[in-house]
Amino acid sequence: MLLSVEGLNVFYGEAIHALRDVSFGVEEGEIVSIIGANGAGKSTLMWTLVGLLKPKSGRILMRGKPIRPIPHLSVAAGIALVPERRRLFPHLTVRENLILGAYLRKDRKGVEEDAELVYRLFPILKERLSQYAGTLSGGQQQMLAIGRALMSRPKVLLLDEPSLGLAPVLVDQVFKAIQDIASSGTTILLVEQNALEALQIAHRAYVLEVGRIVLEGKGKELLDNPIVRAAYLGVAQHTEILLERTDNKV
Ligand SMILES: Nc1ncnc2c1ncn2[C@@H]1O[C@H](COP(=O)(O)OP(=O)(O)OP(=O)(O)O)[C@@H](O)[C@H]1O
Ligand SMILES: [Mg+2]
Repeated sequence: MLLSVEGLNVFYGEAIHALRDVSFGVEEGEIVSIIGANGAGKSTLMWTLVGLLKPKSGRILMRGKPIRPIPHLSVAAGIALVPERRRLFPHLTVRENLILGAYLRKDRKGVEEDAELVYRLFPILKERLSQYAGTLSGGQQQMLAIGRALMSRPKVLLLDEPSLGLAPVLVDQVFKAIQDIASSGTTILLVEQNALEALQIAHRAYVLEVGRIVLEGKGKELLDNPIVRAAYLGVAQHTEILLERTDNKV
């Protein structure tokens, strides 16, 4: 496993037990999705993986070795997060936002090469290098947030609800880009409420409910799972029964 998590428990204060014995793994080269509703603990998990929250118990491992989850050490270990709602620096330019993503790197040539890769992935960013990030459209901001995270040349890219607030056509574009990033060799861990898109691109997936992982399987298997369909894909069971009846008549 490239990234694995064992028995993670995370609290806010004493009372709110936000992650409960969470264990899972991501193999090198995989796209793994974790789907969950509002408040399931998706962002809590992402923040914990990059060292912004301290777990009460449990371990985070890269290639089997425990890492100390502290922000700069997580980046150095090869983990980069595209946070929920992008969190760009709105008063810095596109170019400046990208370069900040490489803040731990000293290899200027490598940084420029990676910037070129980002421009190839998102050509619109190259056209807007000196525009303030805050003036980009929502979709462009999401592309910039992904580009910025890629500038640390991560082994695993974490994405927290990349589809949030985007029009359907942009959602498709962003998910297509995520697949391109995966096929160029970066492992992906994605958390989403948009279960349909997240399961469609996932090799494997997990369902997180109120801080617990309650289901796991291949992306396609979970798309067909009746519980997932009813709870996350808005397919009510009675509709399916109606459809079956209709089919029988034909
Ligand atoms: N700073 C905080 N202080 C106290 N409780 C918090 C804090 N942040 C999150 N929580 C609680 O922890 C639980 C998990 O929240 P989290 O933000 O991780 O969910 P989420 O799955 O990312 O939801 P969403 O889809 O709305 O982003 C929720 O019950 C939430 O109210
Ligand atoms: Mg969240």
